[in-house]
Amino acid sequence: MAAKIEVKQKLDDSIPTVYLLTTEQVEGKDKTQLSAELEKAVMQLRKKGLFSGEECTTAPLQLGSKVILLAGLGEQKELTPTSLRCVVRSVLSSQFLKSAEHVNIFTEGMGRKDLTAVAEGVMLGSYIWKKYLTIDGKKIPKDKTVHIAADAKLLEKAVAICANVNYARDMVNENADVMNSAEIERRVRESVRGARNVRLEVLDRRMLKAKGLNLILAVNSGSRYEPRLIIAKYSGGAKNEPCTAFIGKGMTFDAGGLDLKPWQYMTTMREDKAGAAAVLAVMRNALAFKVKKNLIFAMGLAENAIGSRAFKPGDVIKSYEGRTVEVESTDAEGRLLLADANAYVAKNYKPDTIINIATLTGAVAIALGPDYSGLMANNQTLANRLLKSAEETDDRAWQLPIYKELKEHVKSKYADIRNLGMPKGEAGTISAAEFLRQFAGEKTKWAHLDIAGTNFVEGDGRWYYGYGATGTGVRLLTDFILR
Ligand code: BES
Ligand code: ZN
Ligand code: ZN
Repeated sequence: MAAKIEVKQKLDDSIPTVYLLTTEQVEGKDKTQLSAELEKAVMQLRKKGLFSGEECTTAPLQLGSKVILLAGLGEQKELTPTSLRCVVRSVLSSQFLKSAEHVNIFTEGMGRKDLTAVAEGVMLGSYIWKKYLTIDGKKIPKDKTVHIAADAKLLEKAVAICANVNYARDMVNENADVMNSAEIERRVRESVRGARNVRLEVLDRRMLKAKGLNLILAVNSGSRYEPRLIIAKYSGGAKNEPCTAFIGKGMTFDAGGLDLKPWQYMTTMREDKAGAAAVLAVMRNALAFKVKKNLIFAMGLAENAIGSRAFKPGDVIKSYEGRTVEVESTDAEGRLLLADANAYVAKNYKPDTIINIATLTGAVAIALGPDYSGLMANNQTLANRLLKSAEETDDRAWQLPIYKELKEHVKSKYADIRNLGMPKGEAGTISAAEFLRQFAGEKTKWAHLDIAGTNFVEGDGRWYYGYGATGTGVRLLTDFILR
């Protein structure tokens, strides 16, 4: 579904080579790693006004038998990893390279950060969800192999992480009826096969019922699919070392339940499993890098469907944790599912830290837009560590407050707690987060990433992402466990 990267000792001159150049390099103000011959050719193009190095512009060039594509990065001081990834994406999808199956990218002299960004631009920027594209088959670009001569270890790490980002994207993009709870369970089992330090616990409908995870059961009650709580305990550290649990929302489809969503809001709701997909992808990275930490990867799986068996607005349900919950809206189902998942993991696994990741509220997109996920936490050290990883990976997050008085907003008149917050839906993101916090255990360090605004692109594309899932959170949390 995406381009491949091959790490080379030396680039092969018989295939086209992309040179990424800043305006300063084109103007000869910055020392380049280019050969004198190429430098001269670039200069000539500039003098003729055919190439300035402006961001996302390109110019083809032939030197002897060597085919070259110059690609502008813009001014050095404006250059960010995001713009580098965007340029790589636009170059690889350019008309000029359309039918090239092999392409070199010249990266000599690049530092660690830029090189990682180039690899990410290749892997994430070329990703297309094309499984169901058949009619216009000829127009679908072929997957390219990109050759890069640079530090193999660094490139392989970036490639491995991006492969799992794309794995999560595939899961989110897939039809809800294909990527149902049984298929996700199959993928988890396949991912841990042969791993000696992973113990899997899978709670099916019968066990959820026997143990009293009634919130998960209620959310799934209108569905013809099975609910699941899947918990993979990964022991990479010493026995007495603390443990961090990642718990993701895996709503394979969110129709809203009886509080049915209007169609405009429902079309992409297969994306509501993005939290669980991210958790699985991070687990795959933990296994691939043999992370020396104790980690738990948990996924709550359900489908919020409409039907005569569906749970009802106004219902009061006893949670696994013991408190009763008033269902004020069946569409605020993510917090119900995660409340039981958090409480179960907190009680039975006693992690030191719980990190939720979920497409929890539309409100987060109103507050922060599509570029920053919402981060909330009950512990500032934990929040800072996550923000550091967000910054480092450019998988962006912005912190929203959690404070004592938020408790008032989730109080119910006739149950212990309710699943809505302030009366007009104000601050919907933090009241949903407060609900999750209350089920993670009072002593647990807790954080929550609301990725409802960032995980899916509905238009043609944004940054280096095309239409569909972006895999937000995977790079952030992978960086977090690798630190
Ligand atoms: N899955 C949605 C949130 C969502 C919105 C995810 C947009 C991805 C894109 C969630 O279950 C939901 O429906 N939330 C409601 C909460 C409301 C009823 C308090 C919402 O955001 O409208
Ligand atoms: Zn919902
Ligand atoms: Zn939902």
